[in-house]
Amino acid sequence: MAHHSLLSLAALVFLLIIDPYRAFGLSRGSFGLTGSSNTVITPPAGMCAAAVAIHGYKCQEFNVKTEDGYILSVQRIPEGRVGGGGDANKKQPVLLQHGVLVDGMTWLLNSPDESLAFILADSGFDVWISNTRGTRFSRQHVTLDPSNPEFWNWTWDDLVARELPAVIDFVFKQTGQKIHYVGHSLGTLMALASFSEGQQIDKVKSAALLSPIAYLSHMTTALGVVAAKAFVGEVTTLFGLDEFNPKGEPVANFLKALCAEPHVDCYDLLTAITGKNCCLNASTVELFLKNEPQSTATKNLVHLAQTARDGVLAKYDYGNVNYNVEHYGESKPPVYNLSNIPHDFPLFLSYGGQDALSDVKDVQTLLDSLKLHDPDKLSVQYVKEYAHADFIIGVTAKDIVYNQVITFFRSHQ
Ligand SMILES: *[C@@H]1O[C@H](CO)[C@@H](O)[C@H](O)[C@H]1NC(C)=O
Ligand SMILES: *[C@@H]1O[C@H](CO)[C@@H](O)[C@H](O)[C@H]1NC(C)=O
Ligand SMILES: *[C@@H]1O[C@H](CO)[C@@H](O)[C@H](O)[C@H]1NC(C)=O
Repeated sequence: MAHHSLLSLAALVFLLIIDPYRAFGLSRGSFGLTGSSNTVITPPAGMCAAAVAIHGYKCQEFNVKTEDGYILSVQRIPEGRVGGGGDANKKQPVLLQHGVLVDGMTWLLNSPDESLAFILADSGFDVWISNTRGTRFSRQHVTLDPSNPEFWNWTWDDLVARELPAVIDFVFKQTGQKIHYVGHSLGTLMALASFSEGQQIDKVKSAALLSPIAYLSHMTTALGVVAAKAFVGEVTTLFGLDEFNPKGEPVANFLKALCAEPHVDCYDLLTAITGKNCCLNASTVELFLKNEPQSTATKNLVHLAQTARDGVLAKYDYGNVNYNVEHYGESKPPVYNLSNIPHDFPLFLSYGGQDALSDVKDVQTLLDSLKLHDPDKLSVQYVKEYAHADFIIGVTAKDIVYNQVITFFRSHQ
């Protein structure tokens, strides 16, 4: 059990990070998790200066405060390179929400002609990029310091209940318009869970979900050896319930130990985890590894491991009836019922045949829960050759996925 739980945790850690090593035969080294060449860059002037203005786009930085005190960094690209002009308030706002263990920079790593954020701006959208609490640009809080374990006392339930509402509300108020949403990976789960509780629907026009993650049970078969049976207790004794910093020594040591185990070939494990990405550019991968991975809360990973273990989309399980009763008034955590997403809410889903995280069988479970959705309001795209990272940094993503996303948004204005 302990062995399996370690593997499943590693699976979560490796999310987007790993497959490139195999794809490009980069040195195995320390997985880019330690060492000066792979230190996370935190540009002092922020993301706008580092990744947007250099391409000739306007860019604005905002701070958004959540109800629970986190101060998030949000970027806006109000117009495209050419023919921008006009009133940004007349443009349709789009919010991009990244996945776990990365930040908003992942939308900006390819060339402007290949990256979704720039393509949307050049197509006449008003683009907003959020950065989840704990990532390098969103490490402020009204009272807590990141060195305080209490700063890390959250899971994706809190992103659903407190973070997404803050960001969406901010963009809604700034633009005076309902917004289009794009989520990748955990960013899709945040939206689906919110919508299932009837939240945000009044401020969001439509949602495009790339590599959708809701059920994670089949991640296990994709990985073969990984039975996702993490136990809160084990993980907390390993790392404590605070920051999970993939660049930190405890995590690096943990991964090294894991990879030294006789039956674990990290090369195979890596591919097994994200799937075999078809279409990554080696220089983008290098840039990706310089910028990511980013910290998250260990408690958040525990919650994701519970989702994989239980095959049910539910709130965080305190692992103890009394604690659950105390928090939820029930012995088991409440379930997010995706069938409750309003059936006329426009959804676009794109998933990959090679994606080991957003496994085809799990996406099927998700689609089953949406089977009563208005057929006119649900578009589903299957990209046979795509794995998890292809959806954000694939060089063919514009032609295959992003053009579809734009067509979808335009048909739901
Ligand atoms: C973490 O937050 C929960 C509420 O979500 C609270 O009950 C608990 O006491 C907090 N844990 C710590 C260690 O502060
Ligand atoms: C990869 O990206 C670099 C930098 O943007 C670019 O110069 C190069 O042409 C790209 N290669 C391919 C095969 O797309
Ligand atoms: C989810 O809700 C639907 C109706 O909206 C109901 O038929 C179904 O039983 C619910 N599922 C669960 C697991 O509660």
